Amino acid sequence: MEVLTTIAAIRNFVMAARRQGKSIGLVPTMGYLHEGHLALARKAREQNDVVIMSIFVNPTQFGPGEDLECYPRDLERDQKLAAGAGVDAIFAPGAEEMYPPGYATYVQVEGLTEVLCGASRPGHFRGVATVVSKLFNIVQPDRAYFGLKDYQQAVVIKRLARDLNFPVDIITIPTVREADGLALSSRNKYLSPDERRWALALYRALNTGAALIRSGERRAAVVRDAMAQEILSRPRTRIDYVAVNDAETLEPLDEIRGRVLLALAAWVGETRLIDNMIVEVKD
Ligand code: PAJ
Repeated sequence: MEVLTTIAAIRNFVMAARRQGKSIGLVPTMGYLHEGHLALARKAREQNDVVIMSIFVNPTQFGPGEDLECYPRDLERDQKLAAGAGVDAIFAPGAEEMYPPGYATYVQVEGLTEVLCGASRPGHFRGVATVVSKLFNIVQPDRAYFGLKDYQQAVVIKRLARDLNFPVDIITIPTVREADGLALSSRNKYLSPDERRWALALYRALNTGAALIRSGERRAAVVRDAMAQEILSRPRTRIDYVAVNDAETLEPLDEIRGRVLLALAAWVGETRLIDNMIVEVKD
């Protein structure tokens, strides 16, 4: 497996593969790899001749006061895990390689980015859309892989690819969870043992919401309240948002119908975690 840190080097790698008629899958990550990232890599391995994983803690998607500086990084460990999942090349540029002095161009997806995480993290999806556009232009993959753990991100990137005519198929995979249900996240590393137990409230809240809907509840406000109660029943938890929204448009619902996105963001101690679940209502 190669580890390439410059745009010129990854372009050469891609060009050599292309000359041999090989298909290319891209797995964008910020590193500190876990089973969620590796599931994406394995999916890419199945579907492409060449798998490239990017590892880049993208400064433009972090807001002031967020965890850019202390975001966990361990490239050596990531290399071993990526190689084990069948990755052919890691693209791990430095911040100056991606954003040299004078950098001035950003990609803004409207509407979809103004709700949920976009409402509480202004500029976050502008940073995500910008770096993903740059990665698509640098690597020019046939397929790119994203996890539904970041459901809104996946919807935003599908729209971005469509709107800007990137010739790439966006492939999504289900959320990978710990045995007890906690969604894997690089940020779980921040949790103390107590917080790790309290963090399970997020998954329990989603299950509470889904169970209410399955038992016939159609008032979104009632479902939201029950989910919020579940989270607040644990010490040191704080809600950022609890949402019952349309899974396509991401708009909040009053009455539950169709494909419904249950989504939440909450702080457990100082750590902000997100999770979501899709529920289909057929009546
Ligand atoms: P990061 O948080 O490292 O996640 C990289 C990819 O792994 C994303 O597509 C994310 O949805 C997926 N992922 C994370 N946890 C997962 C889980 N438990 N199950 C399944 N997939 C999971 O998301 C980002 O990085 C960045 O915003 C990025 C897209 C790389 C742009 O900088």
